[in-house]
Amino acid sequence: MPHTLAVHTHQAVRLITLQRPEALNALNTELLGELAAELDAVENDPSIGAVVITGSAKAFAAGADIKEMAERDLVGILNDPRLAHWQRIAAFKKPLIAAVNGFALGGGCELAMHADIIIAGEDARFGQPEINLGIMPGAGGTQRLLRAVGKSLATQMVLTGEAITARQAQQAGLVSEVTQPELTVERALQIAQTIASKAPLAVRLAKEALLKAFDTDLASGLRFERHAFTLLAGTRDREEGIRAFQEKRRAKFTGQ
Ligand code: CAA
Repeated sequence: MPHTLAVHTHQAVRLITLQRPEALNALNTELLGELAAELDAVENDPSIGAVVITGSAKAFAAGADIKEMAERDLVGILNDPRLAHWQRIAAFKKPLIAAVNGFALGGGCELAMHADIIIAGEDARFGQPEINLGIMPGAGGTQRLLRAVGKSLATQMVLTGEAITARQAQQAGLVSEVTQPELTVERALQIAQTIASKAPLAVRLAKEALLKAFDTDLASGLRFERHAFTLLAGTRDREEGIRAFQEKRRAKFTGQ
């Protein structure tokens, strides 16, 4: 049983709630390890089609755990066990939706950016305040943020440490929808259920192709997309999807 997470299943969606209220869900080694282990379990569970990750009303997550970080010197940071957990989260193959209320700062903002979709409550605040600690983002806060919001705003956020509101994050493209805070998780679960009702192999390959756009040139990305599209021609779910359309009924996908 995890100590730092609550885990619930809603039909084909796993809801993971970060639970370290005493530290505003700061991401210590234990929490990131438990999150990585939970994602491992979900990846091997064909009954789960998507994951929603959320925090509390006050904080999605207030960053890396500063108390833990203070104990690590250069060699400790170099051998930081959290790195493997971050890599596990980044490599997760199923859709991950972040439902963000309150603070998403530092590693918390970086965790939200590991999600494929971010839904934010009106009171959410996204920021990379590491500069105030004499450090800088280390889990994607320069790379993913710049790709999400563009150079000028990312640079302003990283170099001033100042956070942006949910509305600003939506305008900049970091967040896809802004909701009333009490509806954020519900809306994220709805989107996750919709995705989980689609053909799992098509969802998996579409996610992979979308992520490719982050780290490849256009020609290679288009080639990857074409290969992935072609691969799906060998699936039973493609046959079923097309047949269901022709027979004017809802498709029954099996993941084959
Ligand atoms: N790590 C450890 N503990 C944290 C924490 C963090 N990142 N953020 C908050 N806490 C703890 C506080 O120490 C406090 O605990 P105590 O009562 O035991 O002191 C408790 O959570 C509540 O926090 P506050 O009293 O500070 O709450 P507030 O409402 O006054 O302020 C806040 C909220 C503005 C988010 C403030 O807590 C804050 O600035 N937190 C730090 C944010 C930050 O700098 N994050 C970046 C961390 S570095 C990083 O993330 C690097 C990386 O990924 C690579």
